[in-house]
Amino acid sequence: MKPWLRKIFGGSSTERSIPLHQIRRSFDEAAGDEEHFPATIDPRIYHVQLILDYFGDLSGKRILDVGCGKGRFARVLNQRYPAAQIVALDLSEAMLRFVPAQINTCSGTMTSLPFASASFDCAYATESLEHAVDISTAVGEMCRILKPGGKLVIIDKNAEHWGRLKTPEWEKWFRREELEKLLKRDCRDVASRFISYWEDVEPDGLFLAWLAQK
Ligand SMILES: C[S@@+](CC[C@H](N)C(=O)[O-])C[C@H]1O[C@@H](n2cnc3c(N)ncnc32)[C@H](O)[C@@H]1O
Repeated sequence: MKPWLRKIFGGSSTERSIPLHQIRRSFDEAAGDEEHFPATIDPRIYHVQLILDYFGDLSGKRILDVGCGKGRFARVLNQRYPAAQIVALDLSEAMLRFVPAQINTCSGTMTSLPFASASFDCAYATESLEHAVDISTAVGEMCRILKPGGKLVIIDKNAEHWGRLKTPEWEKWFRREELEKLLKRDCRDVASRFISYWEDVEPDGLFLAWLAQK
């Protein structure tokens, strides 16, 4: 961004480089807000169904929930596939405290995942990549930890609907092609689609799902 534009608009979140500890503190504080950061999700919600459908049978598979919050998605996967090894990672330890005890948790940032390359069968990030600030690195990290043939789902918001909701200063929404391009650096099958909460309700354009296979 040109300096005079940055003066007016304050630059993008990346350019302002919000410190990670500030983002962590904000989510630590938000963990008590069950209305906006719920610990459970109705498993019939299409966001959950899409992940389950795309991944298929997860018995004996290793799955990473990236930016898991209170683990509402991991909870459903664990109930459906008790033999799956699910790891739930989040920046906020206060959020992680809500994750059910039978799910392994890990405190860390998605821009530097503390896992070996090619060590997960599947990974997903639901409304968390929008907070990663360094989006390119976070997408690269999610692809890195996937085994060849491993599957990734990212569910996040559409940049064309920016302004519809109140957002913290570091949050970023995405254009379809933008994340597809980042995913195509490491994945062979990459697709995106509009989704809504319910399969039989026409998507209104706010939510997008990106599906990729390494
Ligand atoms: C809107 S919540 C979504 C949580 C969960 N995925 C869900 O759908 O319930 C965003 C989560 O991303 C986490 N987060 C933000 N930045 C992160 C980062 N750099 N690395 C890992 N997690 C992060 C926050 O702590 C928060 O729990």
